[in-house]
Amino acid sequence: MADKFSRIGFILAVAGSAVGLGNAWKFPTMVGNNGGSAFIALYLLLTFAIAFIAFLAELAIGRLGETDLVGCFYKLAPKHKRAWSLAGFFSISAILIASFYMVVIGWLVYYIFLSFTGLPATPEASGASFERIISADATSALICFSFVFVIVFFTVSKGIKSGIERLNVFMMPSLFILLCVLFAYSLSMGGGFLKAAEFLFVPDFSKITPHLVLEALGLAFFSLSMGTGTIPTYAASLDERTNLVRSTLSIIFINILIGIMMGLIVFTFIFDAGFDSTQGGPGLIFVSLALLFAKLGVVGQVLAVCFFTALLFAGVTSAVSMIEPFAFYLINKFNITRKSALLIIGVVVYVLGIFCVFSFYKPTSESFSLFGKPIFDILDALTSTLLMPLGALSFSIFVGYVLKKDTLWGLFSGFMSRVGFNVWYFALRYIVPLGIVAIMLYKFKS
Ligand code: PHE
Repeated sequence: MADKFSRIGFILAVAGSAVGLGNAWKFPTMVGNNGGSAFIALYLLLTFAIAFIAFLAELAIGRLGETDLVGCFYKLAPKHKRAWSLAGFFSISAILIASFYMVVIGWLVYYIFLSFTGLPATPEASGASFERIISADATSALICFSFVFVIVFFTVSKGIKSGIERLNVFMMPSLFILLCVLFAYSLSMGGGFLKAAEFLFVPDFSKITPHLVLEALGLAFFSLSMGTGTIPTYAASLDERTNLVRSTLSIIFINILIGIMMGLIVFTFIFDAGFDSTQGGPGLIFVSLALLFAKLGVVGQVLAVCFFTALLFAGVTSAVSMIEPFAFYLINKFNITRKSALLIIGVVVYVLGIFCVFSFYKPTSESFSLFGKPIFDILDALTSTLLMPLGALSFSIFVGYVLKKDTLWGLFSGFMSRVGFNVWYFALRYIVPLGIVAIMLYKFKS
């Protein structure tokens, strides 16, 4: 396959997939509300003990199969090829995620626009402006979603090297520079910054509960884009000599670093303004921060543009990685052009995205709900509680129990010692599946 990532392109593309809206509010909010550095320690432990192990297994599928996800399973399974190739269809969950994820990225576009034209200056107005884009102004929501849709599909239409790699090579360093600007500004805020650092880093081990362990594990999987086929698909376009272990460590490092930087920035602003730090999720970003930027005048406008653009970049690089896996399958399976494959996926994502917008829009919300819940929430729950963990479970069982140990050793021997490999293999067979089943049972219960 000629269309391959360069080594750095691969790291940036996978880091681009990993670093996304999850880092922007899920990670900071969970760290802040759940014991500060005790949570970070727990998250690191789970990332290395479970997510890292499973991540290497996903890379192995792509590297050994060197084709789309369905094709990889078909090629690598010694028996029951057809049955195993069904596991390749977990790449459809990435398509479902893309449809509601891109609606949220659309809200960021709306806020970049507001940053130029005037952000809401009172708490009421700030709450109302967020309400408006979600539930009252479907036209703006649709325009912003369409804008994101075009960028994402245009990028994927250019292929791995001149589309996906190029976008990431531009957006990831830009995201980092924008975050450094915001970080420098937060540092200059002295008191707020110290409070934020204390909030994030002073450990409170009493907050660590079994329930939190599973939350942290779920976050680690979501944040590393696992169980959706993104990692194997990107790995299939990887240069053979790339050090899989070192690249994975770099990706995990970037993911955590950006999560922590986001946390410090967001909470410095929040504390400096005396806002409620326990309010999490989108409200933290779209309501509290937007109000704060409005209060800082022109400086605030510049900061707002930097901030929302940084999040836009983080989101777009993730969204691109959701579309590629299934597109790659359609291209290989039906021998169609990339454009035709994207046309098919595009129709599905666009229609579902419109459904998501309408499921929040007041006048239509009832018709776009299922079981009394907006379609947006249904897609979110279906993917994060069911499809992603099931995907991750099938991938790790496949590598741990179906692939030959010798084949895996052949792949990893250049990057790990024999002892390290044996520990990895043991953890993959016994610890990873248990961890994933525990997350699923827990999520179903709650
Ligand atoms: N990791 C991305 C984030 O943190 C989300 C994602 C999930 C990306 C699945 C690709 C596939 O926002």
